[in-house]
Amino acid sequence: MDYTNVLESAVHAHGIPKIAFEKAAQSSKHIVDDIQRAHTSGKLGFGNLPQDENALRAVTDFARSHSFPNVLLLGIGGSALGPAALDAALGRPNSGRRLVVFDNIDPDSISDSLASIEAQDTIVNVIAKSGVTAETMATFAVVRQWMNDAIGENKARERFVVTTDPVKGDLLAIAHQEKYSTFVIPPNVGGRYSVLSPVGTLPAALMGFDVDSLMSGACNAAVQARKGFFENPALVAAFIQFVLERERAKRILVLFPYSQALWKFAFWFKQLWGESLGKKMNRRGQEVYYGQTPTAALGVTDQHSQLQLFIEGPNDKSFLFWTVKELRNSLPIEHPFSKFDSMDYLEHKTVADLFRAEKQATEIALTEAGRANATITVDRVDAEALGELIMFSQYLTAYAGEFYDVDAFDQPGVEYAKKLTFAMMGRPNFAEYNRKIEETRRRDRAIIR
Ligand code: PA5
Repeated sequence: MDYTNVLESAVHAHGIPKIAFEKAAQSSKHIVDDIQRAHTSGKLGFGNLPQDENALRAVTDFARSHSFPNVLLLGIGGSALGPAALDAALGRPNSGRRLVVFDNIDPDSISDSLASIEAQDTIVNVIAKSGVTAETMATFAVVRQWMNDAIGENKARERFVVTTDPVKGDLLAIAHQEKYSTFVIPPNVGGRYSVLSPVGTLPAALMGFDVDSLMSGACNAAVQARKGFFENPALVAAFIQFVLERERAKRILVLFPYSQALWKFAFWFKQLWGESLGKKMNRRGQEVYYGQTPTAALGVTDQHSQLQLFIEGPNDKSFLFWTVKELRNSLPIEHPFSKFDSMDYLEHKTVADLFRAEKQATEIALTEAGRANATITVDRVDAEALGELIMFSQYLTAYAGEFYDVDAFDQPGVEYAKKLTFAMMGRPNFAEYNRKIEETRRRDRAIIR
């Protein structure tokens, strides 16, 4: 991680003085210990997932004996974004395997997707930590019917594999009743911290990705995340974002991968950061309304879209670039058009040279404009690097929660909206939420036709 451009020496009043890092190194010692203690006591589990060799073996054994061209994943939020990010980074269009994710429940897109794949060639992974999420239960019903119609109820049963809590939730009960294979999300691993559990490893293994390397990368990052301040990028990054947000009013965090492969990773990170830190109450019961709004921009595409705003608009953003040292291709630029200025300078260069130059240009332009930015670099986009990035990001978020003194592992706002949905759809025992719904329905509407 290169954080030169968040320093006062680079972005002046919008940056952080070096001395603040020295002080934080002293005052934040307890943060690593607290998160570590929570792991040792079993309260938290995400950092220990790479050590769960039995869970990983069960996943790889299952994947070996269930090889299908299509993996259809039914889940949402933490039960979908991680596997989708892994697939976007590690999947190849010509691999002969395709991951289809139904997280959104737009009936048109679901119908179109189902029409585009063959049930015979498909295994369905239903994922829900709670085992009751409305979107997932609804798409499960639709996909079950689709599979039954195509291959008959008995065979269809063999095509469903459920990932959920080990002891509670309707999805688990249904899986038992229907004799579906099941995988477990440990109770001490929250939805958005669960990508290294079978939530992510099972679809990844079914897609043929190297889950052993994924875990060894995650393990390396977990070890590093327990080190002292200046050797611990997750802790330093958490401190940086906390100070930029609280003391320099950078209320927006722009996640800026210069890598198409990491684009969906940015969406996974958005959930992790937004849901973990966006909190009304701190842990002492005070109303704080904390949170830094994560948003995503793609290098180089967004240089021709949002970059104008980033450089000259309000200085209310902090930027986190992700770059890749070794790209898989460089794409030489050779052509016979040297007499044209706009082509001449490109000759004998590569598209990779241009890609890197544009990242540097963006970084310089932002820094000159006083916009704080840091860069995370991975050697290459492979399973090991993804494991590292995932674990690094999870510790970064957990440590940020400690700096803010909020619970980075709950999501009361999400739960409340889930309950309103249950009530609206007539689920029993949610009647108290109907009152709220009626109140809003009675309100005068402001509508223009
Ligand atoms: O992080 C979380 O816990 C949530 O965002 C969940 O991932 C999301 O609401 C989906 O929940 P479930 O896995 O229970 O369907």
